[in-house]
Amino acid sequence: MSEPFTVAIDGPAAAGKGTISKAVAEQLGFAHLDTGLLYRAVGARVLAGEEPLTAAQALTREDLERDDLRTAEVAQAASKVAVIAEVRSALMEFQRSFARRAGGAVLDGRDIGTVICPQAEAKLFVTASAEVRAERRYLELAAKGDRTTRAEVLADVTERDRRDRERATAPLEAAGDAVVIDTSDMSIEDAIAAAMRAVTAKGARR
Ligand code: CDP
Repeated sequence: MSEPFTVAIDGPAAAGKGTISKAVAEQLGFAHLDTGLLYRAVGARVLAGEEPLTAAQALTREDLERDDLRTAEVAQAASKVAVIAEVRSALMEFQRSFARRAGGAVLDGRDIGTVICPQAEAKLFVTASAEVRAERRYLELAAKGDRTTRAEVLADVTERDRRDRERATAPLEAAGDAVVIDTSDMSIEDAIAAAMRAVTAKGARR
């Protein structure tokens, strides 16, 4: 596909958006942007002592490539800076131009279908029960050697969801025209297949 085609994938913490987005982008030959990384990178700079808005304005490609962004501590810092409207505005233009690049783009986050790309050709809202999401994230972190507990991961996921849903600017919610995929009882293969069906039904092709 040479013209722009935006696939917006939103959903709560650890719902499997990343895995699904990567697979959909790979199968369609589209570019992929994990927008959570932008907020995590700002959060990491704030943990190191910067002001949130200065950090958002100063983000570089190297910030997104840091290998310490996937911790629960950085996730919490990310969800705190994500409440600040000016921080969200500072990150908007980069996301919008990525979404409209030639050749198609998949963006995953919280507000892609509602705020960043309300005109996205395909919108998905990927969700699962809090317990299932926490268990998946726990296994992922434990496999990386992170010495966390299931209870800590559930607390992180639940707290971030609440903050993300209750904030005034760009709260986490499904766009009215999004296809909702609840992956609580699905294998990852089934979830990817459901996402591909929804996206190709909207006209996406390689
Ligand atoms: O991987 P996980 O789903 O746990 O989180 P993430 O997608 O990396 O996002 C980390 C945090 O960034 C979220 O809890 C949100 O507060 C924030 N975020 C956001 O506000 N808007 C986005 N488009 C993406 C992430």
